[in-house]
Amino acid sequence: MKTAQIRQKFLDFYASREHTIEPSSSLVPHNDKTLLFVNAGMVPFKDVFSGLEKRPYKRAVSCQRCVRAGGKHNDLENVGYTARHHTFFEMLGNFSFGDYFKREAIQYAWEFLTVELGLPKEKLWVSVFEEDDEAEAIWVNEIGFPKNRISRCGAKDNFWQMGDTGPCGPSSEIFYDHGEDIAGGPPGHADEDGDRYIEIWNLVFTQYDKQEDGYLKPLDAPCVDTGMGLERLAAVLQHKNNNYDIDCFQSLVKSIVDLTPASSGIKPDNASVRVIADHIRSTAFMIVDGVIPSNEGRGYVLRRIIRRAIRHGHKIGMTKVFFYRLAPVLALEFKEAYPELKKSLANVEKVLKREEQRFAQTLDQGMGILEEAIASLTNSEIDGETVFKLYDTYGFPADLTADVARERNLSIDMNGFEVEMTKQRDRARQAGDFKTTQKGVDITTATEFLGYEQLDNTSTVQALIKEGELVEAVEAGDHAIIILSESSFYGESGGQVGDSGVLSQNNVQFDVSNTQKQKTGAFEHHGMVSSGTIKVGDVLEAKVDARKRKRIARNHSATHLLHAALRSVLGETVTQKGSLVDSDKLRFDFSHDEIIAKADLDKIEAMVNRRILGNSVVHTDVTDIETAKKKGAMALFGEKYGDTVRVLSMGKNDFSVELCGGTHVNQLGDIGLFRITSEGGIAAGVRRIEAMTGYDAYQFDKQIENNLSAIAQMTKSNNAQAVEKVAQLIKQQKELEKQIATFQKQLASNQGDDIAGQAIDVNGVKLLSTIVEGVSGKDLRDIADKLKDKLGSAVVVLAVVSGDKISLVAGVTKDLTDKYQAGKILNHVAQQVGGKGGGRPDMAQGGGTDPSKLTEALASVEDLL
Ligand code: ALA
Repeated sequence: MKTAQIRQKFLDFYASREHTIEPSSSLVPHNDKTLLFVNAGMVPFKDVFSGLEKRPYKRAVSCQRCVRAGGKHNDLENVGYTARHHTFFEMLGNFSFGDYFKREAIQYAWEFLTVELGLPKEKLWVSVFEEDDEAEAIWVNEIGFPKNRISRCGAKDNFWQMGDTGPCGPSSEIFYDHGEDIAGGPPGHADEDGDRYIEIWNLVFTQYDKQEDGYLKPLDAPCVDTGMGLERLAAVLQHKNNNYDIDCFQSLVKSIVDLTPASSGIKPDNASVRVIADHIRSTAFMIVDGVIPSNEGRGYVLRRIIRRAIRHGHKIGMTKVFFYRLAPVLALEFKEAYPELKKSLANVEKVLKREEQRFAQTLDQGMGILEEAIASLTNSEIDGETVFKLYDTYGFPADLTADVARERNLSIDMNGFEVEMTKQRDRARQAGDFKTTQKGVDITTATEFLGYEQLDNTSTVQALIKEGELVEAVEAGDHAIIILSESSFYGESGGQVGDSGVLSQNNVQFDVSNTQKQKTGAFEHHGMVSSGTIKVGDVLEAKVDARKRKRIARNHSATHLLHAALRSVLGETVTQKGSLVDSDKLRFDFSHDEIIAKADLDKIEAMVNRRILGNSVVHTDVTDIETAKKKGAMALFGEKYGDTVRVLSMGKNDFSVELCGGTHVNQLGDIGLFRITSEGGIAAGVRRIEAMTGYDAYQFDKQIENNLSAIAQMTKSNNAQAVEKVAQLIKQQKELEKQIATFQKQLASNQGDDIAGQAIDVNGVKLLSTIVEGVSGKDLRDIADKLKDKLGSAVVVLAVVSGDKISLVAGVTKDLTDKYQAGKILNHVAQQVGGKGGGRPDMAQGGGTDPSKLTEALASVEDLL
């Protein structure tokens, strides 16, 4: 039975038992920041289990594409070394949301396997959770399954959870016995790790929703979540011991073998071939689902898998870029089950190819270094520094190095690697810390930020820092840091620069040039005392530079609108990679794999400006993260959020909803105007937009207009017609250039006639060595040819001067080339005028840079002959 048939049979079986068929979701989970990738069939239903989301049905069935690489369920390291692990696989699953429970789940599974698929009952083995008497009783009493083939196992094997949080519960697993020829024992036995008894189906009796603090919160109604690896089941039905031998891998495996050099003798069962076959499946689908290779999060998992595949290609003798060429083979294999792959094929190929080309540049060198390191090992561990160097300079993810090490029975020093990573991060931080001229001292009490509502306040001086030391007082002329207990100054964070302004009291004044936020939450007001003395405990009036704050707010709000417009025009794969908001501009970095067409950029700019004109009120809600996410706020993956978050909503129909601690305009109209000032790529897959708002944007436009006016004036037209006028002028110029060229040709030929008479006789040979006027260097050769024809038997040396540049040509008629070579003659002249040249014996060309010596040089040819 072909894999495709099994997939269909499963869906049909449950559909005829009132299950709604749900198509496979994207590999990138929509509803979960704790997960990198969908790693089980139940993930898209996570909120349905917990009761957060309601669907119109209580039973569902799916065949879900899954990735297990990175995170709780990570099979990456096993791929290629076992018969049944994949980074990408398909999971068949049936689900009950508070409808049926253990009994039906077990009965359906049994019927599907033994009746629908006709698997021999005596080949099956079952495990249950050690405390689950109920499940065991159903197997024994209702199914009639022999008790001596049921293992009772602990939580490690029979309590399933999606991740550190989320739906979970005890499970019962069904195993298939591949026969006594294969080593290994049944589950729960000492030799269970062999390949003989293979788990094919996991029936999870989902009863809890695990909370962040570890509490198992009981679900309102118990549920069922089952998962059966399609590839494993196909292996059973196709009588294969190894998943990679089933039908849907054959075309891939063959293509890979065909791509290796025949001389290498690589066979389909080669471990590297299998690794590559697995990896093309996971990477292609990740790209389909919007992931691009990068150095963090999902993008880094993708990069690691691609590079691992390429390294294995290198190992089996691939010399050219090969990996992307497997994508069409895969698309063909999956054309019915996942037509989306074929639709995005061009993009998948492009992304893979680029990543491969990038890595190819460093792979060889990196492998050389690794081989050297291995050869000089005195123990069985590759040191952290080498692993780090390979990572940092040669782009070897640590697990790739670990993979190579494992092949040689070696390991890598992961701790040492982490130490090097931390050192590098510290170095980067120090290098980036240029803004703070004063060194801070950690103050443990946080400053209360008042600046969302007000721009001035009074507060007590909590601490004073001068030259990196806590001091009791600072006086006029001192550069210092003042820490206040409350402040309306915004401390730099989330890309928004810190505020500046004044702290003062009577005749005391401190000019704040920047405000920084310590990790402890204390605000550092950096600046200089311009008059008086300030002591710890003094009360100061804090006044933020309101004009600057307004400009910052405009840019910050515009950044949110820009982000939303980018996603609307370019697609949801656009994600923020960084931003900088200061008073005179904004900068936004984002993931995007392609050049942005001018028309799209215009659309984005127009979209932002339309929202500004809409002038709707900006809403700020302080709420919890879940409510925020429901509202559509994008939570950044891997980011920790506190108990409360601020949600900024802008524009009609919540055009932009973002989590943000920054300061913003009250109404979008306050932004005034938005202009993109530049756009371009800054790294692979990352682009940057810079823009201006308000009066700055107006001035930017004004400058453009002034330039246009200047052009209009120069071309004696007006702003409206200047473009047309310039186009006309360019056209005219082209025509003139053509005419000049024609005239020069004519002139050249006339000149040839004119100067032929200047030839002199040297020992019976006609010599013409002279400067030609009014022609271009290009024409010299033609003139020389003409003169040679005209003179019949002669040596001709011609020069043209244009500014400091001399063009030279020397020609010798064929009858004389035995005696005189054009190249030699030319060089003789060229050397004297600071140049050189070369060519055939009858014609040579060159140049020089010193016209003052030219006449003499030309005259010297006579002596040479
Ligand atoms: N969610 C369960 C698993 O992935 C069925 O094994």
